[in-house]
Amino acid sequence: MTDQTMTIRALDAAATAAEAYITGLDAAPVAATVSLADLRARLDIGLGDTGTAADEVITDLVAAVEGGITGSAGGRFFAWVIGGTLPSALAADWLAATWDQNAGLTACSPAASAVEEIAGKWLKDLLGLPAVASFALTSGCQMAHATCLAAARHRLLADRGWDVEADGLAGGPPIMVIANDQRHLSIDRALRLLGIGTKALLPVATGDDGRILLTAFDAALAAAGDRPVIVALNAADLNIGSCDDFATLIPRAKAAGAWVHIDGAFGLWAKASPRHRAVVDGVERADSWATDAHKWLNTPYDCGIAVVADAAAHRAAMTVSASYMPVDGYAREAVDWNPEWSRRARGFAVYAAMRELGRDGIAALVDRCCAHAATLAHGIAALPGTRLIGGPGLNQALISFGDATDAVIARINASGEAMFGATTWRGQRAMRVCVINWRTTDADIARAIAAVAAALD
Ligand SMILES: Cc1ncc(COP(=O)(O)O)c(C=O)c1O
Repeated sequence: MTDQTMTIRALDAAATAAEAYITGLDAAPVAATVSLADLRARLDIGLGDTGTAADEVITDLVAAVEGGITGSAGGRFFAWVIGGTLPSALAADWLAATWDQNAGLTACSPAASAVEEIAGKWLKDLLGLPAVASFALTSGCQMAHATCLAAARHRLLADRGWDVEADGLAGGPPIMVIANDQRHLSIDRALRLLGIGTKALLPVATGDDGRILLTAFDAALAAAGDRPVIVALNAADLNIGSCDDFATLIPRAKAAGAWVHIDGAFGLWAKASPRHRAVVDGVERADSWATDAHKWLNTPYDCGIAVVADAAAHRAAMTVSASYMPVDGYAREAVDWNPEWSRRARGFAVYAAMRELGRDGIAALVDRCCAHAATLAHGIAALPGTRLIGGPGLNQALISFGDATDAVIARINASGEAMFGATTWRGQRAMRVCVINWRTTDADIARAIAAVAAALD
């Protein structure tokens, strides 16, 4: 068998399995149906001394993971903020793997470099962010935070005469971070990775609507005094989809000399919707924004997006050069903007998703998910023994079934009809409702409400 034949056979096996997964999404249970122990037992067959034919490896893998692949690509997966995958984005991602392009350097793949450059330009335009801002396509919002906050760290300390890239943080001016008390923990972890540390965090109290309280915010800025300050705001918070009052908070923070960073993992996409963009009014005045393509743009995992208004700070924080790297003065070298060195060509899927939907299609996707989330949340809340305790805000809501919350979620998930996750919010156990998949239909929402009703029975 030739190398090519082997590859084609393996791809055919993968395509057959992919087709079965996609066509089976409506009928298959949404949550996993096998235990981790069973999966381990099936997969751990020992690493043999001799190899296995490529197509057989794929066929065996597909059989071994049966029941352990959730329906997260389907329309009734409402657990966590996990977007679907648009057809063109999925296909482009297959090609990214097939072409095996290293998108770190333009010389390795001029096509990956050009596609990413155009995708970045379109993204900034779509999200209403400054055209001159720099960007990076990272593994996710977590690394987008790390990238943006590395730029913030550079600018704040360089302005005080401290070269953090050369000298590190020890002995330098200590940075303070003022953040929404409902922030996602990826902000905290970015601070850990950057050596700023979580003790630098001053969480600011929020109201019942999840938005930072202005008096608490002003007090935090005053407490910072002359220290270099990063302000981290939510667009939107992961539980109830609430966005901070950017139009009020950002000018105040900037007047105090702070760098303003936005966790816009999913909520920043409201900017793409004429119907919903008012909730993120003023967000474009921040200094940096972290979001995800694998959430509301519905590209496959993984792809985060970091955008930085101060391109010089961004570049200073990330740039590298080595004698073996060819330099092309006209190229945008991803390695100068990204925390990774070698990296997947994520731009293909991002470019494809934006072309497939266009501006109107992306706005319609955001609008449809928000409408579905509201119908789902209110539909469940109308059932006996049920309370809507948060939202709906954008595409998020929180439902309580009282003391039975975890048990009810377990019954819904065991039914296979839909999948939800649990959380504790302001001291109460709750079921999270998140709709963020282009595949979700009216029928899916009705089926999910029926599944919750059955679980309550
Ligand atoms: C509000 C928010 N911020 C950050 C993240 C982290 O994003 P990622 O998993 O892409 O790193 C998430 C993940 O769901 C999120 O909801």
